Amino acid sequence: MAEIELKSVRKAFQSFEVIHGIDLSIVDGSFTVFVGPSGCGKSTLLRMMAGLEEVTSGEIRIDGARCDHLLPSARGMAMVFQSYALYPHMSVEQNLKFGLENQKLPKQEVAARVAKAASILQIEHLLARRPSQLSGGQSQRVAIGRAIVKEPKAFLFDEPLSNLDAELRIKMRGELISLHKRLGSTMVYVTHDQVEAMTMADQIVVLNEGRIEQVGSPIELYAQPANLFVARFLGAPPMNLLKGKVVRSGNQITIMLDDGTPVPLRDRMIDLSDGAPITLGIRPEHAEIGESAFKVGVNGTEILGAETIIHAEMGTGYPFTIAQRGISRAKAGDVIPVAIREPFVHLFDESGWVVGASSDWRSAYMN
Ligand SMILES: Nc1ncnc2c1ncn2[C@@H]1O[C@H](COP(=O)(O)OP(=O)(O)O)[C@@H](O)[C@H]1O
Ligand SMILES: [Mg+2]
Repeated sequence: MAEIELKSVRKAFQSFEVIHGIDLSIVDGSFTVFVGPSGCGKSTLLRMMAGLEEVTSGEIRIDGARCDHLLPSARGMAMVFQSYALYPHMSVEQNLKFGLENQKLPKQEVAARVAKAASILQIEHLLARRPSQLSGGQSQRVAIGRAIVKEPKAFLFDEPLSNLDAELRIKMRGELISLHKRLGSTMVYVTHDQVEAMTMADQIVVLNEGRIEQVGSPIELYAQPANLFVARFLGAPPMNLLKGKVVRSGNQITIMLDDGTPVPLRDRMIDLSDGAPITLGIRPEHAEIGESAFKVGVNGTEILGAETIIHAEMGTGYPFTIAQRGISRAKAGDVIPVAIREPFVHLFDESGWVVGASSDWRSAYMN
């Protein structure tokens, strides 16, 4: 069991700062995912929690007690890496035992923990094998087993599934989710894959260039991205972002898009003055073909079966993507009207932060 707290955590390599003051609470027993593009500082942050990297300043606490000065082994956290880091000359069983024997645990206790981990991960039949005799998925299970036998307060995963093929990745994703349910331990999981973040996390932490952009549940981040970075990063295909201006007339607010289409809004409170530049976001899956003054020209379609991705462009030449359920009749050259429904509209000011968020998004988003 572990609650983890980060306070103003910074990291510099030589004089180059890569983590710029992270404040974060990780609730005991939660599955927290750090997600962000390559190089944004996910591994560095996780490695500081594990004790593999010193913090330059700030504090890390586990269950209230400061741990940033402790050796990795004294923190009670177990880390699983993308490269499985198994000892090639040892059997699977020896790999699982190794850390425990070093801790001088009684033989019986070691055997019991190894047996339990092997059973949880269903790798009993692999115990006698060498790592070179394992598939990628089996190796990753052994690497996870090596973390489980330590009975850590928290598990730290750094892109553990990235070396697996797509099918196995999806399977292991499911296995890790059930492992989390079964153990109830705090898990912190690093990935650059937004689908892993959306499907696995209780809490997602979106990182960008060493800073937190937003923290929230997957649904909150999808439905209420706090800024353009999160809006672009979560969701595939990515959100359409249309430039325009605010037009105020009495109490009525209209977004005048750059292609000349007015989008009147009824339920939004926006603190921007008449004429202020604004970005209107609408996800491809919320852009509905039907009755509208807003029209786009189709460039091509991708028919996936369950849905069709329609690649189009606006009058301004700016790209616009529509995701339509099932198989679309739209084809290149068509001009189609697209309804922009207010509950699904996201608005961002010039600095890229959200304005006029809808307070009642749950009723629009949730079935
Ligand atoms: N040991 C190191 N020395 C110098 N710079 C490093 C070191 N480790 C990471 N960095 C830099 O810190 C930044 C964050 O890296 P990292 O945490 O590995 O990102 P991510 O895991 O999100 O891809 C990158 O700019 C990277 O080049
Ligand atoms: Mg990394």
